[in-house]
Amino acid sequence: MLRGQEINLLSALPKTKRNLQARQEAKDPEVVRISKQYGEMYFDGPRDYGYGGYKYDGRWQPVARDLIQHFGLKPGDRVLDVGCGKGFLVKDLMGALPGLEVFGLDISEYALMHCPPEIVGRLHLGSADHLPFPDASFQCVISLDTVHNLPRERAKRALQEIQRLSQGRAFVRVDSYRTPEQKAVFESWVLTAEFHDYPQGWLQLFDEAGYKGDYYWTIIE
Ligand SMILES: C[S@@+](CC[C@H](N)C(=O)[O-])C[C@H]1O[C@@H](n2cnc3c(N)ncnc32)[C@H](O)[C@@H]1O
Repeated sequence: MLRGQEINLLSALPKTKRNLQARQEAKDPEVVRISKQYGEMYFDGPRDYGYGGYKYDGRWQPVARDLIQHFGLKPGDRVLDVGCGKGFLVKDLMGALPGLEVFGLDISEYALMHCPPEIVGRLHLGSADHLPFPDASFQCVISLDTVHNLPRERAKRALQEIQRLSQGRAFVRVDSYRTPEQKAVFESWVLTAEFHDYPQGWLQLFDEAGYKGDYYWTIIE
C-alpha cells in the first residue's frame, strides 16, 4: 500500500524542556486521571499534570510557514487541526497566509474556551475519532500529539477520519520510540497516551486504517 512520507514538519519548534525525575516522582494514578480530563490542570496547572501553563508565544509561527509550504496551501484552502488545544497553530496558520481558512477540533472545552480572540468560532468541540465534516472537505488535515491519546481501535478510527476528510493530504505526529531505552524514558514521562508503539507498529496501524498522509514521531530523548 502506498504510504505518505516520514517527515519532520515540526523541526522549527523549540525543543521542550523535560525534568524526567520530577515527573517520575510526581506521577501517580490520581495525577494521570486528572491530566486525562484535559482541563485547567492539564493546560495551566503545575507541570506534573501536563503543560505547566500554556500561553501564546508565537512558537508555532515557523511551523505554520513550513506546513503551508509543504502542502502548497493557497488562500481559500481549508485546513483542520485535530486536537488543536487552545488553537495557537490555527491562529498562526491564518496569520501566515491571509485567506487560508483554518479550523480546529479538540475534546477539551477548557482549551477551546481559552483560545485567542481572533479565532473564536473556528474551533469545534469533539473527538478525533468522529469528525463532523463531509468527505474531502479540507485541503489539508493535521493532528499533532493527539491520536495517541485514544486506545488503538479508536486511534485507527481517528486516522480513518483524517484520511476521509483530507484524502491523504495530511500530517500526524504521534508518540513513539526507537529503542527499548527510549521506550522506558517515554513510559516514565507519559501521562495521557493510550496507544504508543515503535514506528513499525504505527505504520501497521496506518496501513490498517488506510491512512496515506505524512507522519512523524514525538520521541523523548
Ligand atoms: C499534547 S496536546 C497537543 C495539542 C496541540 N496539537 C499541540 O501540539 O500543541 C494533546 C491534545 O489532544 C486533545 N485530545 C485528547 N483526546 C482527544 C480526542 N479524543 N479528540 C480530540 N482531541 C483530543 C487534548 O485536549 C489536547 O489538546
